[in-house]
Parts: sequence; C-alpha cells; structure tokens
Amino acid sequence: MDYLRIQGPTKLQGTVVISGAKNAALPLITLALLAHNKVTMTNMPEVADIKTLLKLLQNLGASYNLENHTLTIDTSTVNHTMANYDIVKTMRASILVLGPLLARFGHCEVSLPGGCAIGQRPIDLHLKALEQMGAEITIHAGYVHAVAPEGLKGAHIVFDKITVTGTANIVMAAALAHGKTVIQNAAREPEVVQLCEILRDSGIDISGIGTSELVIIGTGGKTIDMIDFEVIPDRIEAGTYLCAAAITDSSITLENVRPDHLDAVTAKLEHMGCTFELGETTMTIHPAQKLKPVDIITQEYPAFPTDMQAQFMALAVRANGASTIEERLFENRFMHVSELQRLGAEIKLSGHTATVIGACELFGADVMATDLRASSALVLAGMAAEGTTNVHRIYHLDRGYENLEQKLRALGATIDRLKE
Ligand code: UD1
Repeated sequence: MDYLRIQGPTKLQGTVVISGAKNAALPLITLALLAHNKVTMTNMPEVADIKTLLKLLQNLGASYNLENHTLTIDTSTVNHTMANYDIVKTMRASILVLGPLLARFGHCEVSLPGGCAIGQRPIDLHLKALEQMGAEITIHAGYVHAVAPEGLKGAHIVFDKITVTGTANIVMAAALAHGKTVIQNAAREPEVVQLCEILRDSGIDISGIGTSELVIIGTGGKTIDMIDFEVIPDRIEAGTYLCAAAITDSSITLENVRPDHLDAVTAKLEHMGCTFELGETTMTIHPAQKLKPVDIITQEYPAFPTDMQAQFMALAVRANGASTIEERLFENRFMHVSELQRLGAEIKLSGHTATVIGACELFGADVMATDLRASSALVLAGMAAEGTTNVHRIYHLDRGYENLEQKLRALGATIDRLKE
C-alpha cells in the first residue's frame, strides 16, 4: 500500500493546473448510456473513481479509450444490466447507472451501495422517485431490482432532501421517459448543471437548469444523439489548492478553474484574510497577513460545500482564534478530527459541530486517511507541520485527486509517495 511522506513546514509558489471535475465526469459518463453514438469527453480527470466507473461500464458491454484526458466511449454494445457488488462497494457513485440503465433497457439490477465512512448515505430518494415514474423496485440479496416494462413515465417529483446523485439519476431517467417530469428541490451543484446542459445541447427539452425546479420532456424511450464536450474544472480540487496556499502562507496561481463555482469558498478565505486576483479561468491567492478564525456551516450549493469541510478544518487549526465548523450533510464526517489531533490540533467535538481552537503548533506524525477529502486535509496539515508526516491509506486520495503529490511537488512541497 502506498503512503505519502511530507516534510514540513513548506512554502509553495508557482502555478497549478486544475483537473476536470470528478463529480461532473461520473454522471456524464453514465449519461453516455442513453446515447446511440460514440461520445468524446475532454478534460477527463484520470483518477481512480473514473477508472472504476469505466470498468463498470465495460462490464456492461461498453467500449472506451481514455488517453491524455480524453475519453471516447461507445455504449451501443451494452448488453448487460447488472452492476455488481464488487464494483459498487468500492464507489458509491456507481448508483448513477441505475436511472440510465432502467430508462434504456426497462430493467436493471444494481448492488446496494451500503454505508460508507462518512455516514449511512441511503438511496431511498432515488428509489422513491423512480417508483413515482412507474418503476417496480424490489430489494433482494443486496441488489436493487428495478423493472419498467412499458418504460418510465414522467412524474412530479419533490425530493425531501436535496440530493446530488439523486437529482442526476432522475434527470437521466426522465430524459428517456414518456412525457413530462418535474423535479422540485433539485440539486443546483455545477456538476448537475453541466449534466443538464449537455442533455439540453443533445436535444432534450429541459428547462429550469441551475434552479431547484427542473422540467424535462422525455423522448419516450428513444436514445439520444449526445454531443462531445469538455468536463468542467474540479472546484473541490481547486479549493484544496487554495487551502494549501493559505495554510503554508504562500501565493499560488490556479489555471483551468471556474472562480464563480468557488464563491462560497473564496468568501471564507477572504474572511480569513486571504486576497485574490481572479481571471476568467485563473485565480491567484495571496496569503493572509494574520490568519483569522472562521465559522462554517456546510450546506448544499451555492452554500459552503461539505467536500471542503476537512480542508478548512486543517486551515482553521492555524488561525489566530477559535473557529466553528458545523457539518449539516453527513453525520459522520469528522473522522479527520482525531488524525489532525495526532498532529497537535486542538479540536472539540459536540454533535455536528467542531470547535477548532486555533494558533496550534503542528508537529509531523503518522496519520491515517479515512475518506477522500479527509486525506487531503491531512496532506495540508502535514505541509504546515514541523517535521515529517506520513499519511497512510492514500488510496482514498487517489480516488479523486489527480497527481496530487506531483502537483504539490511542482509547487515546491517536499512530498513523496512511498510503499508501506
Ligand atoms: C455527492 C457528491 C459528494 C458530496 C455530496 C454532497 C458525487 C459523486 N458525490 O454525493 O462528493 O459530498 O454530493 O455535496 O457527486 N440522502 C438521503 N437519501 C437519498 C440520497 C441522499 O437521505 O436517497 C441524504 C444523504 O445521506 C446526505 C444528503 O442527502 O445526508 C445529501 O447526499 P447526496 O447529495 O445524495 O450525496 P451524494 O450524491 O451521494
């Protein structure tokens, strides 16, 4: 197993190119299941989660080629409709095949994703919405069996909670359904917006894009002529590099970024004293003279993203004063707290709120990555800590950060990937 060795404290400088957004690319790849043509997607992040999903689609019968961040995928040969436990258990986002497979074939069997480190993460809202669209769903032996022999039909869906992959699944199902689907309380994340835009540009009648009410007129079972496109930049990777600059008191420039997707993140960094120069696709961050504490509540887009919570916790450890961080989306997303404490952080937990004492001296130690974003928080803290930090179990990190250590090394960090 690989681990990262970081020598701190470190200063960063220079430019980092942000990769395509993993969370945009995942539903866009499953969207190809609705297409009858070969599709080319550029700016594809080459991270483990993407490779896992491509393997799943290959198991279903699709063929693809991923080279130099360009994916061509052809799903016209798909002849299986079962997503096996072996793959789904490694990546919950595999559930994104459910809506498209059911819409295209009228039946499918998808393994239940089960719990994960950051919480229970049920899929009840996906299933309920598909049932409203006429699907018959049974759960047997760990699998969701879904059938809609006459095809799915449009419905009026009101999500009880805002769900990102739930919205994506239902948007894709609705695209091939018979008639009109209205989705209320839809997710407005940029990744969902891109999915809707690609569907619209591929000829689907979809309105309300970017709002919490989407209206989709389905094709009645006809597959779509999907356009080629470029995946949007990864706002979470970008936010992580902004935190890397802030925690090391450094100035760096991000390229291939969408500053408007990061408003909630830059607002908090500005509050902490960082300053920015923004271009259309570039961002330069300058460090705070004296890092101020911050109060954060994680919520759905456009509010502060839960996927940036751990990185800000690492940063808050260095702030001059106490910060509070309230996690509203996932019940168990504080597992990085005890690892940050191993590095010297003072953090008190009370229910869903962490109070970070701040102004802590950090000292290198062995720490364990517990989930994708927690891993990057430990890398950030390691760069600010005095001495050597070893971050173990970095397979979490490889799921969503492309070449993290190469990118950080190019910015001047002393970071190496070693074998246990
Ligand atoms: C997506 C992102 C993930 C991010 C999360 C929240 C992808 C691949 N992953 O995950 O990085 O952290 O959004 O921004 O895009 N819920 C239910 N029932 C459901 C579905 C969700 O109760 O059927 C709950 C969840 O437990 C959670 C909340 O709704 O408390 C939001 O979850 P959701 O938006 O669905 O997260 P994901 O789509 O899994």
